[in-house]
Amino acid sequence: MVKDLSVELCGLKLRNPVIPASGTFGFGLELAGLFDLNILGGISLKGTTREERFGNPTPRIAECPEGMLNSVGLQNPGIEALVSEKVPQLRKLYDGAVIANISGFSVEEYSYNCAVADKCPGIDILEVNVSCPNVHGGGMAFGTDPDAAAAVTRAVKAVATKPVFVKLSPNVTDIVAIARACEQAGADGLTLVNTFLGMRIDIKTRRPVLAAGMGGFSGRAIFPIALRMVYQVSHACSIPVMGCGGVASAADVLEMLMAGASAVQVGAENIRDPYACPAIIEALPGLMDTLGIDHLKDLKI
Ligand code: SIN
Repeated sequence: MVKDLSVELCGLKLRNPVIPASGTFGFGLELAGLFDLNILGGISLKGTTREERFGNPTPRIAECPEGMLNSVGLQNPGIEALVSEKVPQLRKLYDGAVIANISGFSVEEYSYNCAVADKCPGIDILEVNVSCPNVHGGGMAFGTDPDAAAAVTRAVKAVATKPVFVKLSPNVTDIVAIARACEQAGADGLTLVNTFLGMRIDIKTRRPVLAAGMGGFSGRAIFPIALRMVYQVSHACSIPVMGCGGVASAADVLEMLMAGASAVQVGAENIRDPYACPAIIEALPGLMDTLGIDHLKDLKI
């Protein structure tokens, strides 16, 4: 039997739930030579700030056996280049859901960037990144306090006509409190989780491996923790959740959907294997068949 892989996200029909996570897939264009992007349910673009950024000094990637650390620091071409170059170029190749990941260093900057992105016809969803651990005075600073996360959400919702998802940090004691604050401030959905603050030390040089000292840890090792947070938040809130964190297989996608996610983002696995998303999408129908699943709706336990 043909399997129905489609899912719905804030009224948007996705051909399947698999979405490369922000920061692991550039602006889509970089990977377009490898496979037909149109197999993807959506694409979350690299986190974008008002001004162009080079990011942090190198080295800013550290491989670990169980995942990876990054301290990229939001390297991006700036919001104007996103809406005038990157998204129009991507739209020539891709007709699925385009998610703009928006970062900032103040509530005003989040609001400005979202207002600009909201007017761009090629963008379907605004994903407000209050969870980047690699910049000072921005990103995660807004996502680790319920009032600050709510303030950003309110400001963005005041200028947005498109669905607003807030991307949450796992570096908190109570992610449900942050999620509820965003929901009450008007968020249409939530993406969770971003990376865990981590560190490695080179025992020969006795120096941190990353030039920035610390960075965000992602990869397979975080899957059970991300899954637990998706489960908790999706049972505490009534807005849709995009599950993210250590997803590396079709089984992981089903597990995230069972935890309560409406769509699933694949992050670090794209860096390890740029064909990870096509492989997961290809494997889903067979696994669904084995498990007696005909469609991906109502899998939440
Ligand atoms: C980065 O550019 O530092 C990573 C983005 C993020 O963690 O949100």
